[in-house]
Amino acid sequence: MVTSVTSTDQSGSGTVAGPATTAGGRQEPPSGARTLRKDRWWLPPLLTALGLATFVVYATVRSFMREGYWDAENHYLTPFYSPCLSDSCVPGSSHFGTPIGELPGFIPLAFLSLPFLLAFRLTCYYYRKAYYRSVWFAPPACAVTEPHARYTGETRLPLIVQNAHRYFFYAAVVITVINTYDAVLAFGGERGFGIGLGNIILLVNVVLLWGYTLSCHSCRHVTGGRLKNFSKHPVRYRMWTQISKLNVRHMQFAWITLGTLVLTDLYVWLVSTGTITDLRILN
Ligand code: FES
Repeated sequence: MVTSVTSTDQSGSGTVAGPATTAGGRQEPPSGARTLRKDRWWLPPLLTALGLATFVVYATVRSFMREGYWDAENHYLTPFYSPCLSDSCVPGSSHFGTPIGELPGFIPLAFLSLPFLLAFRLTCYYYRKAYYRSVWFAPPACAVTEPHARYTGETRLPLIVQNAHRYFFYAAVVITVINTYDAVLAFGGERGFGIGLGNIILLVNVVLLWGYTLSCHSCRHVTGGRLKNFSKHPVRYRMWTQISKLNVRHMQFAWITLGTLVLTDLYVWLVSTGTITDLRILN
């Protein structure tokens, strides 16, 4: 049973509905209101939505631009175009050859890696929480009623695809290896071995990408899941312990790597188009 309370409003000109109290003593928002919360509960979901939208727009635009992705002098390749496997790629940017012919303009040059990376992030346990709250309002925040009448969870299409996350994790490992290879190759530019600010940016980016990939919940499960007795599997136990330490930072890695991906791409874009000059530290 729910009882509702009315009170005089501050102007004294009428009454407003107060919170209703259930038989169990729990307070519920008055009819028409979504929450009793008076703090700015909408701010975190709003910032999350803005952050995700900014990255999606930037990454989409850049992936289709087909310019400013390879700096021929310093051998910097942006992760948004790696691996570049088609004849449409500028000379030098294809570290694994060009087994694929020309691609029409509506297909991104990194069409092999981008769908897997997108799926990896979309099905990530952290990002799910982020966009379920900030985009789908399911629910938008603690103690705030969600607008949906029904909840079917991840038991049917399309959300049942979220369960494929572990397979996207394997693909992400391969792509991170490729990004690491690109970053290592960038130490050998046209002048031979050298180090520039771009090398440091590429390197920091892949280190953080490894942090994000290895801190994945699926990775934690792969290393230590389904074990009944840790003492019989000391190597896996040790790996699981280390990955568990990374795992508690997964949200931070998720956001930081969005930033480093944009920063890395932006730097390669600006250097390769001659807008700025790479800061050389050695050679
Ligand atoms: S990448 Fe976030 S849980 Fe796997």
